[in-house]
Amino acid sequence: MADLSTNIAGVPLPNVFFNASGVWCQHEHELQALLESQSGSLITKSATFEPREGNPSPRYLPIPNGSINSMGLPNEGYEYYLNYARKFDYSHTKPLFISLSGLSLADNVKMVEAFVAADLPCMLEINFSCPNVPGKPQLGYDIEAMDNALATLAPLVKKPFGIKLPPYFDIAHFDQVAGVCQKYDNLAFLTCVNSVGNGLAIDFETETALIKPKDGFGGLGGAMILNTALANVNAFHRRLPGKQVIGVGGVTSGKEAFLHILAGASAVQIGTQLKEEGPALFERLNKELSDIMMAKGYNSIEDFRGKVKTL
Ligand code: DOR
Repeated sequence: MADLSTNIAGVPLPNVFFNASGVWCQHEHELQALLESQSGSLITKSATFEPREGNPSPRYLPIPNGSINSMGLPNEGYEYYLNYARKFDYSHTKPLFISLSGLSLADNVKMVEAFVAADLPCMLEINFSCPNVPGKPQLGYDIEAMDNALATLAPLVKKPFGIKLPPYFDIAHFDQVAGVCQKYDNLAFLTCVNSVGNGLAIDFETETALIKPKDGFGGLGGAMILNTALANVNAFHRRLPGKQVIGVGGVTSGKEAFLHILAGASAVQIGTQLKEEGPALFERLNKELSDIMMAKGYNSIEDFRGKVKTL
């Protein structure tokens, strides 16, 4: 076995893989399954201040080359995840990440304050990119508002933390977002990317949208977004040498994980493929990535991380 260990903000992970927030992590029994799996870490479902039912079903479907979802942030409310974080056994080899997705800056402030007061060794990933709450645009696409949110939240968090970003498609946006992130020293990692927002999947036979919320519009994930995800990982890796990037998007095997790391990712999260395959996936990914590294003569992640060649 090659050495697949990594660290995020100095906290060690036994291997690079964990779930993307939203998948297999809303309830304690799912988090327990992640803990018992071969994942290198685990992250909870994005929490809002109050519990939420989310959007009407059907709201997730696998489609050719990926998935579409408009879950609408169903979650148990932040206190549930705070309690989970209080009970968590931090002597475990896997660190715990907590995802927060306040519906307003005021909600994010209240949730962050509660976690800071609890003084737990878990790490926060603040979600600036949910595409699925009707009437709530993605903060990550309003760069001024994101800067304003970070100016409030970063000093409150005090410790190293991360943000989950939407995919960007323009070089000017990579530059602007990196410029904002650079201003906040304890912003330690960027998780790139959330689903590609507001795709539409239509059934050919019935001529009907496949999911119910928002007239069928939902976030795209899985294999079809790999190249967008790789571009975002690499764009921020190049622009923010003092920060880390967690890659997510289009990983179905060790090969795509290898590409994410080559693009600069320090860890790799899995969404659609975990939803489809379940937590046994992590054992397969560890083996596949290890086999690739050994075949290429790489002993550790740092031997090739960020070393993608260009022509
Ligand atoms: O694709 C997503 N779906 N991204 C999020 O950030 C939230 C999630 C949901 O609950 O809709």
